[in-house]
Amino acid sequence: MARNIARLLLLPGDGIGPEVMAEVGRVIDWLGTRRGLGFATETALVGGASLDAHAVPLTDATLARAQAVDAVLFGAVGGPRWDRNPFHLKPEQGLLRLRKELGLFANLRPAVCFPALADASSLKRELVEGLDIMILRELTGGVYFGEPRGIEILPDGQKRAVDTQVYTSGEIERIGRVAFELARKRRNKVCSVEKANVMHTGVLWREVMTALGAQDYPDVELSHMYADNCAMQLVRAPKQFDVIVTDNLFGDLLSDCAAMLTGSLGMLPSASLGAVDAQGRRRALYEPVHGSAPDIAGQGVANPIAMLASFAMMLRYSFDLAEDADRLEAAIAAVLARGLRTADIMQPGMTRVSTEAMGAAILAELDRL
Ligand code: IPM
Ligand code: MG
Repeated sequence: MARNIARLLLLPGDGIGPEVMAEVGRVIDWLGTRRGLGFATETALVGGASLDAHAVPLTDATLARAQAVDAVLFGAVGGPRWDRNPFHLKPEQGLLRLRKELGLFANLRPAVCFPALADASSLKRELVEGLDIMILRELTGGVYFGEPRGIEILPDGQKRAVDTQVYTSGEIERIGRVAFELARKRRNKVCSVEKANVMHTGVLWREVMTALGAQDYPDVELSHMYADNCAMQLVRAPKQFDVIVTDNLFGDLLSDCAAMLTGSLGMLPSASLGAVDAQGRRRALYEPVHGSAPDIAGQGVANPIAMLASFAMMLRYSFDLAEDADRLEAAIAAVLARGLRTADIMQPGMTRVSTEAMGAAILAELDRL
């Protein structure tokens, strides 16, 4: 019998979310029977699926369940059916509310290029082979949540839209500490990214990061880069980076860019973490960086690897099961090395497989490792 070690809330969401989440379900079963690790799972609706059933993208009841469990696994939200909804009734609001209410300020988006996929990247093999960078995105502040925000009608009948980019020194310092701590366990380099040349938030960001580095992390190499230059450097020479730390909006853009270095957006996992509380517990949500991909939903062709790799991050960061996380990641790498490919990473001479076949191959590999 598996020993119950944790409670998980699964939020498959929309589009390909349920398809890729199903593969996680199989890994959870495998861990229970083969490794004696019991996860008690519950499933709820989020995004468009929740809008259809409950007229809101996230119900208070589901939020309460997310707050009660040890970790949340999130698929994807959104789709054309809800695109014309008013802002507060867009599927994405379900995700943003979870991030905000759970206080998930630190978003870890590793971009690792599997050797077998170096040729699937749109960049030359030598630029991406062996790539291993970590984009750390601030997730609960900045222009995503800043007030005032909205669209008003001016006296002359024009409309005027406002979003507010805002950061406090406390918010910057808190994400900065996560960046320096991560770097110490990697290659000891932090690149802090903002636009201090045009934005006040950028000036403060650079000031706080510089002081924090000098005071508490003098052993970590700290550099600064403007966000536009960083986008350019990511496609010019991505291996120069170790940890990139940046705000919510720049992190959103740069992580999509970094994802493509690894061959496909279907490969990039993420972890969103809160602060450690008095009981030593830390709220956490794990999600693939790819979206709901409505154009391929329901066809069984989606790539489940980013979702499975997000689950591996959960094993590592929420439950200290580094060995099991390593094993799952090794199984993914082995299956890729054997030439199995979902459509998004398909290449000449490789074997094209469905979502389910990819999941099954990874399970078979887990059996062997
Ligand atoms: C992401 C996504 C989200 C974001 C959307 C779905 C709200 O693009 O997680 O990168 O903009 O943060
Ligand atoms: Mg994004």
